[in-house]
Amino acid sequence: MKRLGSFVLAAAFASLLAAAPARAQEKLEIFSWWAGDEGPALKALIDLYAKQNPSIEVINSTVTGGSGVNARAVLKTRMLGGDPPDSFQVHAGQELIGTYVAANRMEDLTSLFKSEGWTKQFPPGLISLLSAKGGIWSVPVNIHRSNVMWYVPENLKKWGVTPPKTWDEFLATCQTLKGKGVQNPLALGENWTGIHLWESVALGVLGPEGWSGLWKGTLKMDDPKAEKVWETFGKVLDCANPDASGLSWQQATDRMLKGDAAFNIMGDWAAGYMATTLKLTPGEGFAWAPSPGTGGTFMMLSDSFGLPKGAKHREAALKWLRLLGSKDGQDAFNPLKGSIAARLDSDLTKYNAYLQSAAKDWKSNKVVGSLAHGAVAPESFSSQFGTVMEIYLAGKSPKAAASAARAIADQVGLGK
Ligand code: GAL
Repeated sequence: MKRLGSFVLAAAFASLLAAAPARAQEKLEIFSWWAGDEGPALKALIDLYAKQNPSIEVINSTVTGGSGVNARAVLKTRMLGGDPPDSFQVHAGQELIGTYVAANRMEDLTSLFKSEGWTKQFPPGLISLLSAKGGIWSVPVNIHRSNVMWYVPENLKKWGVTPPKTWDEFLATCQTLKGKGVQNPLALGENWTGIHLWESVALGVLGPEGWSGLWKGTLKMDDPKAEKVWETFGKVLDCANPDASGLSWQQATDRMLKGDAAFNIMGDWAAGYMATTLKLTPGEGFAWAPSPGTGGTFMMLSDSFGLPKGAKHREAALKWLRLLGSKDGQDAFNPLKGSIAARLDSDLTKYNAYLQSAAKDWKSNKVVGSLAHGAVAPESFSSQFGTVMEIYLAGKSPKAAASAARAIADQVGLGK
């Protein structure tokens, strides 16, 4: 009887437990395009977050596709459908300001910047890139460089060439390499990497003032100098693999590493891929130079995370943002990512030889912003630039491309 009594009691207790609403576990959903090969740096941050917040379950939503080409479309559907992730990756600058800030969908993070002391910890130029309408709109986790040319030192030695310093030199080197049996000296990938290449060509042809002039509206998109960019771009494309559109950026980098190509022009997430994923030693397994004609200029972009209005787990998202902006967070993420910290006080001993050289250039070079990665132009322009590229590729006419770019610039009021 006694045994039966305690059994009944235990059963009643168990059913009570089952009936009680499960204590809602706290969650945090972050959204980015850092999947697969791009994942290790993000994972380091998530691990740190989980350690600091053991009761919060992190949902890591990723949409694969370099440069966010696919993620942005999914994000748009979610934002418009009233189902924002708690925090999402977005390039610092116009990519966020011209879209969700303009549409009043983001929380102003100024008070967070003040309480964390970030207004002094991040460079003033970066803060102004993140600012508009009297607010600061996202937390920068890194600084990436767009204008980098990668190569394998041993291969160049074998072919008897050195990294070209101007686009003219590049074209001459390209012919030399073709003569030595390297059919496609430049490794190129899918569409957006063509725009990425274009911005390096443009910076090299126009110089930093000319480049910035395009975005201020002081140099028109159909100016003869801008037309010259397309002309040079066409010649550079003749040095690239014809199957580019079928390759991810990593596959293009692989071609260069395997010696099928001599050079690859890509942002320094390629250094993250080569050092973190492929475990190559910077300076040995791969080396780097500013893309031709751009020595002394650092074309920057920055990955950041924002807080959408209506985030379901706002407090957890604020903790995420605090971690992203912290010294520990930045120094855990960036050495793996192939980027340098956005903060001014990072511990450079944690960074490899490539990143140390990037940090030096970031301090001493002229800094300009990237078109392909959301820094300089409003979304309304950059989202249509793919069409300009298609026009160029279809007819190979610099004039047609330049005037299409001008028409879009006028339509969106670029520089106004
Ligand atoms: C960039 C982004 C980098 C890297 C790269 C390739 O736009 O800023 O962090 O992810 O795309 O996907």
